[in-house]
Amino acid sequence: MSDALDQVPLIETVVTTTGTDGAVNCGAMGVRWGEPEIVFWPFHATRTFKNLCFRGEAVVHLTDDVLLFVQAALGHPRPPMHPASAVAGSVIEEANAWREVIVTEITPSDDGLARSRVRAQVVASGTGTRPPLGLCRARHAAVEASIVASRLRWLGAEPVSAELARLQELVDKTGGPREREAMAYVRRYVAERS
Ligand SMILES: Cc1cc2nc3c(=O)[nH]c(=O)nc-3n(C[C@H](O)[C@H](O)[C@H](O)COP(=O)(O)O)c2cc1C
Repeated sequence: MSDALDQVPLIETVVTTTGTDGAVNCGAMGVRWGEPEIVFWPFHATRTFKNLCFRGEAVVHLTDDVLLFVQAALGHPRPPMHPASAVAGSVIEEANAWREVIVTEITPSDDGLARSRVRAQVVASGTGTRPPLGLCRARHAAVEASIVASRLRWLGAEPVSAELARLQELVDKTGGPREREAMAYVRRYVAERS
């Protein structure tokens, strides 16, 4: 079935969810950023998916902090947060903007992958105090590096390190300290597993 939501851009976000034990989790997720609904595809193995099934609520953040983003993709960051206003969730204080959402539908994806399509209604939103910076090649390079690193087991060490070397050049040319730190985080993650 064609759905207008599947035509809007996929935006890379950090999603906070709360577990059965009350612990707040940050996961990097690509989200179709519709109005007033969003849709995303968490893998069943992620904490984000388990928490969404348990509570049906989340806070979806836009951030230009690439270090936070890669940590949410490859690790378990604990940034400063405050309670959300309309859901029992947590807002990352340094985020540029966020949306509090309630899950309306979870359906197994039809692409053969172990993930589900999660549709959610935006019930509140907010913006941070720091305006977002514009496009930055080094940030995009670090995001791409984190995706490649997360596929290390399937791709193998050699192609991953070749791709990281290519992306490192962009970070060296156009990044600042935060982008370099994010890229170093990705490279450490890969080195520890290669
Ligand atoms: C750019 C980018 C996009 C991602 N999008 C998704 C996604 O749509 N669904 C998903 O399950 N994981 C996605 N991931 C991987 C998750 O961030 C990763 O599996 C993370 O460990 C999940 O965290 P959690 O287990 O704490 O929920 C993405 C990673 C990156 C770098």
